[in-house]
Amino acid sequence: MTENNNKPDKAWGGVFTEATDSRMERFSESISFDKRMYEQDIRGSIGHARMLADVGILTREEFEEIERELIAIKERIEQGDFKFSAALEDIHMHVERALTDKIGDVGRKLHTARSRNDQVSTDFRLWIRDAIDKLDALLEDLQKAFVGRCDGDFDVIVPAYTHTQRAQPVLAPHIWLAYVEKFQRDRERLADCRGRVNTLSLGAAACAGTSLPIDRTKTAEYLGFELIAANSVDVSSDRDFATEFAYDMAQIAIHLSGWAEDWIWQSTVEFGFLKLPQSFCTGSSIMPQKVNPDVLELIRGKTARVVGNLQSLLVLTKGLPLAYNRDLQEDKEPIFDSFDAVSASLELAAPIAARTVLNRESIAERLDKGYLDATSLMEYLIRKGVPQRSAHGAVGRLVRQGIDSGKALAEFSLETLQKECELIDESVYDYLGAANAVKAMKSYGSTAPDQVRFQIDSWKKRLGL
Ligand code: ARG
Repeated sequence: MTENNNKPDKAWGGVFTEATDSRMERFSESISFDKRMYEQDIRGSIGHARMLADVGILTREEFEEIERELIAIKERIEQGDFKFSAALEDIHMHVERALTDKIGDVGRKLHTARSRNDQVSTDFRLWIRDAIDKLDALLEDLQKAFVGRCDGDFDVIVPAYTHTQRAQPVLAPHIWLAYVEKFQRDRERLADCRGRVNTLSLGAAACAGTSLPIDRTKTAEYLGFELIAANSVDVSSDRDFATEFAYDMAQIAIHLSGWAEDWIWQSTVEFGFLKLPQSFCTGSSIMPQKVNPDVLELIRGKTARVVGNLQSLLVLTKGLPLAYNRDLQEDKEPIFDSFDAVSASLELAAPIAARTVLNRESIAERLDKGYLDATSLMEYLIRKGVPQRSAHGAVGRLVRQGIDSGKALAEFSLETLQKECELIDESVYDYLGAANAVKAMKSYGSTAPDQVRFQIDSWKKRLGL
């Protein structure tokens, strides 16, 4: 067979009589970013070739030659001994060209029963599957950092806020575990997404499948895919698995940014609740006293691009007709960018979460300001038989008196308290003050010390601590 030597770099040269415009080449290349999937591309090709040998499309020897050479190409790429060029468009063409350059016609058989459409989908699924596993491990490390500090902080009571106003007192570990729960849901979302990502695209070919006797079950087995996509047009056209992953990463970033925001303001001089590890802070070039929480600010800030990347994928795929369209090539950079931002943020979050120190004196000093025990008193009255609405009113009036006289509720005499409600007796003092309010808690999932203890222990077990 004769090759079209006028256009030596193109896999699709046959029908063309004109060479590609160099501007077009530059505009349409994806190698500058999809080379990141070289390992997955090679892994996918080896799995595909192994299947082709199983069904007799390749001989065993041909498969072994292809496999050997693909591994050598992978090593060359890893050693920086591989030339990338825009003329070869993408990672798929680069690997295939390198293969045929070495082993000629045997290499030319690799692309049998395959299109770049199902190939790119496969590579991307493999890449995202790996990325999910990395993020899951990083999320687990962060959970461990929070759970790991719970015992040491168990005796610290802090205000919980609603509307950024002091609300009710809680144990510090109750706050740490609030973050742990959020990151757990993030992990569950990733695991759920992984189930759908882990579907074999290969075999769909361009959009209609193939007339060649392939065995997709084998390919799935070789590449560790649990499911086999059942519709070739669907495979060719969709990237919802990537959009879903982009959402999962956006949600992680949003959780991280909320935590970062909490710790940024709680480490200010005005608050003085937290001391961030200096090795994760930076100074100012003009104000010598400054120790700035830049890492937390950047974690918060990077959320913007991660959310933007989700938006990009949604808009990218909106209104796309069946089946493959080149628009889909634009799906990779947002995913790579989100992964880089989120994985780097998680990597830094764990040591910060573990090493930040609670400023116990400063927290304790102000704990009994702000009527954190008002709800505790209200529930005391409810237990005495006062209807909730009336109890709320009575405590509200007492708080008003306290504000006017500069007194905390626990500083009120029994007589004053009884003036508001005669059902109050001496036992009320067991429920006033932040520490008593925490102790009085009972419900499942509350900040009651035995509840928090139970949660810490079960998290330790779940995380193998
Ligand atoms: N680089 C392309 C992408 O990322 C690969 C698939 C190209 N397929 C095609 N028919 N042009 O989507």
